[in-house]
Amino acid sequence: MAQAPDSTRPLNGLLIGTASAATQIEGGDRNNQWWEWAQTPGNVADGSSPERANDHWNRWREDNELMAELGFPIARVGLEWSRIEPSPGKFDHAALDRYREELGDLVDKGIKPLVTLHHFSNPLWLQHRGQWTNPGSVDAFLRYARVAVGALKDLVDEWVTLNEPNVYATQAHLFREAPPADVSPGSLVRVLRHMAIAHVRAYTLIHAVQPDATVTIAHHLRDFAPMNPRNPLHRAFTRLNQWAFNDVVTDAFGLGRFTSLLGRSPLPEGRYADVIGLNYYSRTAVTGPSDGVFPGVPVNDLGWEIWPQGLVTCARSLHERLGVPVWITENGCADNGSATELERFRPRFLAEHLDAILDSGLPIERYYHWCFVDNWEWGEGEVQRFGIVHNDYETQTRTVKPSGRMLAEVVAEGALTPSIIEQYSAGQEYPRADGSSRPA
Ligand code: BGC
Repeated sequence: MAQAPDSTRPLNGLLIGTASAATQIEGGDRNNQWWEWAQTPGNVADGSSPERANDHWNRWREDNELMAELGFPIARVGLEWSRIEPSPGKFDHAALDRYREELGDLVDKGIKPLVTLHHFSNPLWLQHRGQWTNPGSVDAFLRYARVAVGALKDLVDEWVTLNEPNVYATQAHLFREAPPADVSPGSLVRVLRHMAIAHVRAYTLIHAVQPDATVTIAHHLRDFAPMNPRNPLHRAFTRLNQWAFNDVVTDAFGLGRFTSLLGRSPLPEGRYADVIGLNYYSRTAVTGPSDGVFPGVPVNDLGWEIWPQGLVTCARSLHERLGVPVWITENGCADNGSATELERFRPRFLAEHLDAILDSGLPIERYYHWCFVDNWEWGEGEVQRFGIVHNDYETQTRTVKPSGRMLAEVVAEGALTPSIIEQYSAGQEYPRADGSSRPA
């Protein structure tokens, strides 16, 4: 793809903002399973825990202020279930009031919130009962959703029920990257099944409270391609991954249509997504069930291929299967900067992905860049930086990166223009998957 389109691309109604998740930014909460997991040395790359993160729980006014200054009209934000329901059935109304204050402030600033109810994080009491492998997780989630939506419904009418069920289930039960790191195909399937039932019922519940609400999941899709297209095994695994990781989830959560993998659904088929949220990061070069990268391709600082066309492929697949508009609920890259620069290639990444969206001809209505302020990156800790705003974790000082100023200019202009691209991304190079320019 050319680094800069030679003509101006109007946004044509595409709304742009950023995304975040409660556990990754708030700090201060010890009642979720990621805090517990981080206490065991080796589980988080740099030994950090979500207890510090961005201290957003205390600094939310400053963060909202900065977001308003940059002029974003939308923001995806998350709630921490373990704060709202610290023990089963006992709700903390002070925590809900605190979220009301933060969300009300966003609304007052003209920033429309899209709120995620569950983003990887469970209260410890649910975790210790077998988290989402336990069929009781469905009713537990619905009880929480009813209270949270009821408390916030005058401020919020756009909801993501669950973030990336496929990533949650595979990290916890296939790849050992998330608690409880229990490798078990049976548990993996049970988690997906219970999450799908929970989503479908939550969709119905939220619409009963707010008939005009917009409700969806944030679905993580990868663009799978065989490492060697002539190898029948690579081709077979590509089809299997596409089906099991992408399509099974799209159909179960979006249509209530369960495959044999998930068993029979207790609920009728229908349409359970008013739009479909797409979290897109990368392409996988397939040789088997796990991730691979084509040699020599551009990659981010985590070694994930930078492949803007894949965003369009995944958005098209979702739109064709579900027939609803697509919201890009996450897209971004780890760019950890250098000794002298806050970032090295994120502006180019932004230009290329926005260009692909605007050129796609698909009904993509929203773009939430992951993320706003550099945040606690689960098993990677504080080292990998995805933000358009830099965070100094020691002092909690925020500094807007060039990509933040660039995105603000795109919003202000209502277009991605050659001059914006030239100003922010001229000459930027990506690391390559051959290892030569990748950090250790
Ligand atoms: C998750 C985010 C995460 C991002 C980058 C997504 O899969 O939803 O929580 O920070 O990837 O790794």
